[in-house]
Amino acid sequence: MALDKKLIQNIIRVTSKAAISSYKFIGKKDKQSADKAATDSMRTEINKLKINGEVVIGEGELDKAPMLYIGEKLGIGGDLKLDIAVDPLEGTNFVAKNLPGALSVLSVAEKGNLFNAPETYMDKLATSKKIPSDATDLDFSIEKNIKNIADSLNKDLINITVCLLNRPRHKKIIDKLTEMKVKMKLLTDGDVAGALLVTNNKYNVDVFLGIGGGPEGVLAASAIDAFGCKFQGRFLFKTDKDIDRAKKMGIEDLNKKYELKEIIKGDSIFCATGITSGDLVNGIKVLKNKYITETFVTHKSSNMTEIVISEDTIKTC
Ligand code: FBP
Repeated sequence: MALDKKLIQNIIRVTSKAAISSYKFIGKKDKQSADKAATDSMRTEINKLKINGEVVIGEGELDKAPMLYIGEKLGIGGDLKLDIAVDPLEGTNFVAKNLPGALSVLSVAEKGNLFNAPETYMDKLATSKKIPSDATDLDFSIEKNIKNIADSLNKDLINITVCLLNRPRHKKIIDKLTEMKVKMKLLTDGDVAGALLVTNNKYNVDVFLGIGGGPEGVLAASAIDAFGCKFQGRFLFKTDKDIDRAKKMGIEDLNKKYELKEIIKGDSIFCATGITSGDLVNGIKVLKNKYITETFVTHKSSNMTEIVISEDTIKTC
């Protein structure tokens, strides 16, 4: 197995260290520094691994953050060629304002298996595996999707929960959901975690939908794959620059609706370490001379979907 247990442990260490690096910025109203600390740590730690990695999902241009840029080569080298998707600090506002839900996120797949996505918005749809795949579609109206979900689950509309980012661009959707009397879980930020809430009944979310970051969509899809849930995404290009960049990345049909299998193929590992506590994982705790971290881990080929707790000794100068 190319993506083995040792690699899983290494990736957990990478996201844990990145999370710990931004810990000191929690509640300091400085999202750039928090993001830079997580990004620098992630680069340093991945560069210690015996892999031949390339960043296919980086961060930066959408919010002018310090980047682990697309195309950046990472790792010591060797036979293991990997596509790497990173979001060293998902939820920069959460760290800056000391709010729940900040994560450090990384996903890897064998070379050529992870979608090389532009840093633009994506219209997304994710549902649990209890809902038949053909019951929902990005091309259906919101009403049709929600009614089909309610029928599939044999639930009344008032008992359906829809998770989406609370943004003015979603006004029509939110108005429709209000009219339909379904429950909403409105996120202020953090739609990687939002999409993952369809993976387990305990989160009480039947569908995640709406427009958020494209890179976040690819990262969420790579975790969702291990749960057998549904994910669809369609990029949205606002400017000519967005369109040029997408074309350079090989996207010919700008309106294409991507299915999960077109975003992530083969085996993959996904890790998201909590910085501040949220729905998925607890944030970093300090206990005596140690940081305790929780990481949400998936490994497709071994069906691993676990929360892993790790320790890291606090270094004193
Ligand atoms: P950052 O961590 O880069 O600030 O992203 C947070 C986030 O909420 C993502 O989870 C989401 O995909 C994106 O921003 C949505 O963008 P916008 O705030 O422009 O709606």
